[in-house]
Amino acid sequence: MKLADNKATLSFSNGSPSIEMPVYSGNIGPDVIDIRKLYGQSGMFTYDPGFLSTASCQSGITYIDGDKGELLYRGYPIEQLANHGDYLDTCYLLLKGELPDAKQSTDFHKLVNNHTMVNEQMQFFLRGFRRDAHPMAVLTGLVGALSAFYHDSTDITNPEHREISAIRLIAKMPTLVAMAYKYGVGQPFQYPQNNLSYSGNFLRMMFGVPCEEYKVNPVLERALDRIFILHADHEQNASTSTVRLCGSSGTNPFAAIAAGVACLWGPAHGGANEACLKMLDDIQKMGGISKVGEFMEQVKDKNSGVKLMGFGHRVYKNYDPRAKLMQETCNEVLAELGLENDPLFKLAKQVEKIALEDDYFVSRKLYPNVDFYSGIVQRAIGIPVNLFTGVFALARTVGWIAQLNEMIGDPEYKIGRPRQLFTGSPRRDIKG
Ligand code: ACO
Repeated sequence: MKLADNKATLSFSNGSPSIEMPVYSGNIGPDVIDIRKLYGQSGMFTYDPGFLSTASCQSGITYIDGDKGELLYRGYPIEQLANHGDYLDTCYLLLKGELPDAKQSTDFHKLVNNHTMVNEQMQFFLRGFRRDAHPMAVLTGLVGALSAFYHDSTDITNPEHREISAIRLIAKMPTLVAMAYKYGVGQPFQYPQNNLSYSGNFLRMMFGVPCEEYKVNPVLERALDRIFILHADHEQNASTSTVRLCGSSGTNPFAAIAAGVACLWGPAHGGANEACLKMLDDIQKMGGISKVGEFMEQVKDKNSGVKLMGFGHRVYKNYDPRAKLMQETCNEVLAELGLENDPLFKLAKQVEKIALEDDYFVSRKLYPNVDFYSGIVQRAIGIPVNLFTGVFALARTVGWIAQLNEMIGDPEYKIGRPRQLFTGSPRRDIKG
């Protein structure tokens, strides 16, 4: 970041001396006012619950222009990566800053493949869960438990530990997600098969069984790879900020990523694709397309507490570029599986059409986000609804690690410690 030409001046109506603060510019995007010395100079904090106007760090990984609906990973538009890239090359880009050349790409694919198995003891740990446990509960536990199985890569201050824990996490997440699924349905775990692609391997671990040969469908393989690319990183969202905050204490990478998994689970974040599909199912049960109007009235009624899941975003005030790509993938997958007339897909299109024309949504700049179509694609592939957020966590792991490692390498990094406006009781004494 560089100092901007102008400075910010904060003045007070009570006659206290005004305070000058430096302004910094990034390479693109809004400038920031540096308020770090504000408390020392004025005895006051800033108040910004939900971080509506606060940049918590400097970062060179992902850039979002919410008004334009643009998403860049290390400068590359998401459309180009989704159309021409592969997920592991995207991981390389996010972690290292540049796309790999042919040799780097082959080496990176091999490196990740070498780490796809998990310690055999982990299945005994997994077997301690109830079979009907939510996969996100299981995954939060499994990812946190990696630190108990891989002691030799838990020192966040050691660059070699950071490197190997990054590779381990990226490589093992598909195995863990598939294990969580297989455990729930009572089928044997499938060991990874390293001659398959990252997404092909995941499909086989999910849907393969020992008594039959599993053939990877290239359309589904490509669709999954695209889902992974679209979810790989998204700058300082809630789960990424959680990972940074958790990691800022110096805890190990596995523990920090487990915190990210836990945060992602919420329906306002990664849980939205599951919530979106449930919402479409509910409308379908109400009577389908003919009931969309009635449902929209509930959404617009503030007292109903009903939200249109898969719509709206803190940063995008335009079409989420990932939603457009996901819609394309949705068409391809449904065509491949002969599900073009899928009633939920038709319903989703109708909901989207009505919302995009309705003043409630238009005036609030509420557009479909990536979750609006990703649930339909995943359901068509055969992924159960309660595993959708687990697939998102798998894909986002690389973003979390890239952001965590960037923070550790930032000379300005400090333990995260927000302040508060205290509204509780002042000091008082127990009577008697
Ligand atoms: N349905 C109906 N109204 C909505 C929706 C929605 N999905 N989203 C926002 N609004 C309304 C709010 O009620 C508010 O209206 P008001 O100004 O009359 O009070 C206005 O739009 C602004 O909304 P905020 O809640 O202030 O927006 P915020 O940035 O805090 O929330 C969020 C963003 C959490 C994503 C919200 O839009 C939402 O809950 N969407 C549904 C859940 C969802 O799809 N989440 C996925 C996000 S993307 C991701 O994690 C991959």
